[in-house]
Amino acid sequence: MRTLIHVVAVALLAAAGCGPRAASAPAPVTSTPPAKVVQVAPAPPAPPSTAPSREAIVAAPEARSAKGMVVSQEELATRVGVDVLREGGTAVDAIVATAFALAVTLPAAGNVGGGGFAVLRTAAGQRAALDFRETAPAAASRDMYLTKDGAVSEDATTGHRASGVPGSVAGLAALHKAHGKLPWARLLAPAIALARDGFAVSPQLAAGLARDAERLARFPATRALYLPGGQPLAAGTILKNPALARVLERIAKQGEAGFYRGDTAKLIVGEMRRGKGLITAKDLEGYRAIWRTPLVFRYRGHEIIAMPQPSSGGMVLWMIATLLEPFDLPAWPWHDARQVHVTVEAFRRAYALRNTLLSDPAFLTVVDAEVVAQAGRTPIDPARATPSREVAGGAEIVEPEHTTHLAAVDEAGMVVALTTTINGPHGNAVVVTGAGFFLNNEMDDFTAKPGTPNSYGLMQNEANAIAPGKRMLSSMAPTIVLAADGSPLLVVGAQGGSRITTAVWQVISNVVDDGMTVGQAVAAPRFHHQHLPDELVVEDGALTPEGRAALAAMGHAVVDAKWPIASTTAILYDGGVWTGAVDPRRGGLALGP
Ligand code: DON
Repeated sequence: MRTLIHVVAVALLAAAGCGPRAASAPAPVTSTPPAKVVQVAPAPPAPPSTAPSREAIVAAPEARSAKGMVVSQEELATRVGVDVLREGGTAVDAIVATAFALAVTLPAAGNVGGGGFAVLRTAAGQRAALDFRETAPAAASRDMYLTKDGAVSEDATTGHRASGVPGSVAGLAALHKAHGKLPWARLLAPAIALARDGFAVSPQLAAGLARDAERLARFPATRALYLPGGQPLAAGTILKNPALARVLERIAKQGEAGFYRGDTAKLIVGEMRRGKGLITAKDLEGYRAIWRTPLVFRYRGHEIIAMPQPSSGGMVLWMIATLLEPFDLPAWPWHDARQVHVTVEAFRRAYALRNTLLSDPAFLTVVDAEVVAQAGRTPIDPARATPSREVAGGAEIVEPEHTTHLAAVDEAGMVVALTTTINGPHGNAVVVTGAGFFLNNEMDDFTAKPGTPNSYGLMQNEANAIAPGKRMLSSMAPTIVLAADGSPLLVVGAQGGSRITTAVWQVISNVVDDGMTVGQAVAAPRFHHQHLPDELVVEDGALTPEGRAALAAMGHAVVDAKWPIASTTAILYDGGVWTGAVDPRRGGLALGP
């Protein structure tokens, strides 16, 4: 069932500037070569009467400003970023300060112990993509999570062995070095104050701790910080984290060395020894964020700037855009059965290839454009769902919730989208003793065992197998869409595991194909398909009963979403004004200076 196409790609990739580079030189501006996809688009059959009412969409509140905008999934952190913009900081300064604040106020997702990706476009039009994804420790190996009976052990998700080498601090430092203006220490100061002086635990943080209490209680430093006296912190409690404040102070004084060397590194390595983890001082010293050439492709006259591998986000968006371009989506009402059908068929094809071919660029066997071309090889039948087994690739699912997306724009026109994560709820559940932060469990994004689903039900294969130093494939999709005249139109991203990319696509399509406002676009009900399991997951209100019946008749296995499909934040630029909105599914704050 899995098809692996081997072509000699390493040299081509190096020539195309896709090989790893140290984090000092921003990526050059280049365009991704177009992929050849042959697709006919005859008129599909479903009647427009299957479209749900757009009036029923409860739009997210919108913030407007001509001077810039910050969106994040936590209110205090957004305010930190807005203060930076007010002081004349760039969008990158704002994103860095917001991200460090999130590491304190949204500890389930914001982090210094995780990693992520950022895509940006400067006011002068330079495009760049930064990869600060975690890497597998040098002692990691392909079958490290397999038990004697061949099952995938819990070590892949909980405890010390689940962590990749964190990339966030190196990433934020690289962003600041290339595009920051305010002093680095100024950007850390609000996060340090929040950690030292404390902040009120939000209902969202309290609920997450309560849900995950049994797992968190297994680790002493986690227990001491988040379950004092054995009880998860209640909403409204003032949480002080002096150990994290000291880590952030070291980072403020020494830059990334304050994390990857010296006292913080010693604390991480000490924690690893206590829990038989793999990360060594050498792994930490050797970590580098990498500037990569962003993926740049077009959809209905819009340039889209997206994250290349090791995130699958940009590749999946590129495949979906390429497959959907021939269909006249703007002419069809929002979410009528035709529109949903062809979109799902594009999702199915893109995820099949995601799960089989994509990986860390240093380990890739297939060039990007060839992957996109392959996506078109099973033409979309406008009247019938193609069963996933006839397409190729990847499984069952559990709720993802521990990533976060933030974005900032400044008055000069710099735009930055950043998604960061520790992967599962509270990462690996281990707070580093004496350092006050969670470590990630990103190793579960690798293929622990081909054909066995990971936490997000993704059935991946050898391309994404574990190897020392390798970056695990991601679904994160920080994305910038430009208007036809080349000015910024939309900056968007999401949290939500394997559902990130389809959610980001739907926000883009809601704006580009259906002309929604940004508040409507992030809030509108969504659907999701990831090739396997072969089911179309729908939120309440995404389909009419007639639409659901029409899609079932075409062969889609339509099931209700058991939890919200991802959570997005977005900023739209129109007529000289930035309009920001955060997804009501998880909340947060959009605010201008
Ligand atoms: O990189 C990825 O694709 C995952 N580690 C993202 C995890 C996630 O979005 C969890 N929660 N919302």
